[in-house]
Amino acid sequence: MTEITPAYPRTRLRRSRTTGWSRDMVREHALGSADLIWPLFIVDGNGVEDPVASLPGVSRWSVDAIVERAREARDLGISCVALFPNTPPNLRSDDGVEALNPDNLMCRATRAIKDALGDDIGILTDVALDPYTSHGQDGLLDDQGYVANDRTLDVLTEQALNQANAGADIIAPSDMMDGRVGAIRDVLEQARHHNVQIMAYSAKYASAFYGPFRDAVGSGGLLKGDKTTYQMDPANSDEAMREIAVDIAEGADSVMVKPGLAYLDIIYRAKSEFNVPVFAYQVSGEYALVKAGAAAGVGDHDALMMEKLLAFKRAGCSGILTYFAADAARLLQK
Ligand code: PBG
Repeated sequence: MTEITPAYPRTRLRRSRTTGWSRDMVREHALGSADLIWPLFIVDGNGVEDPVASLPGVSRWSVDAIVERAREARDLGISCVALFPNTPPNLRSDDGVEALNPDNLMCRATRAIKDALGDDIGILTDVALDPYTSHGQDGLLDDQGYVANDRTLDVLTEQALNQANAGADIIAPSDMMDGRVGAIRDVLEQARHHNVQIMAYSAKYASAFYGPFRDAVGSGGLLKGDKTTYQMDPANSDEAMREIAVDIAEGADSVMVKPGLAYLDIIYRAKSEFNVPVFAYQVSGEYALVKAGAAAGVGDHDALMMEKLLAFKRAGCSGILTYFAADAARLLQK
């Protein structure tokens, strides 16, 4: 015989789950299309769609086609697109100076989207040198091959300014250099870009889940070694809170935890301790795992996708950067 607690059956928790309307009524969290930020990869050329082999369903698009993707996103109610360039190999260099070119892929795409859609959709641009360096690291290397913090900052601030000048709404430093949020804020203020936001990749871990992204931007084959000397140790949680505290103090408008699902505890802590908008980046490897799992018959693709996205909302996220953005938004429209 099961022992019945004195409160039972008055506290029968299943009662509210009996019908659909009741489940709808007591639901605590919901995913909406405005919660979604869609990362898009840009490639040189015109009329180009270039599929990324390790990211099924994701392509690199030329600038003209990126505008159409942004239009599609806007029509689906997605709030923002995040841009990443696949810089042509001949424009990659040791110092990543192409990042400062006002006519680089990123700036051209930003201007084209702004021209077509104005403020109907946000544009987030990633600040880090990896799509532009011949060594695939996010910053400048010293003689020992170590990514030099302060010299890198000087370039990152210029990169951020270049993006803001092109029309970026949100600058998102993903480089993990110390002091970059404050340095970027100062440069933006001096240039009177007062309303350009900073979404700091505050807790960015040295993760095994970034592989397909590096294929997409073309830095993977170039990268020697790893990024453990600047990205965070996956074993650390308190340190993530210190990173977030510093970035907020330096002027970040919102913070990001990256990758996503393996770091829900970090998201939850960040939201509880700081009460600022927290975003998750569901990264390329997480996306690819769902695709591979669904293809292998693990479960229904859309159900797997939506359950994972909802988990971010439950953990405390304001929004999610996800390659599923358009698929999920389409599903939410039904
Ligand atoms: C660049 C950057 C990376 C990602 C976003 N910005 C890769 C890296 O740090 O090596 C990864 C995103 C993804 O895997 O989807 N600094």
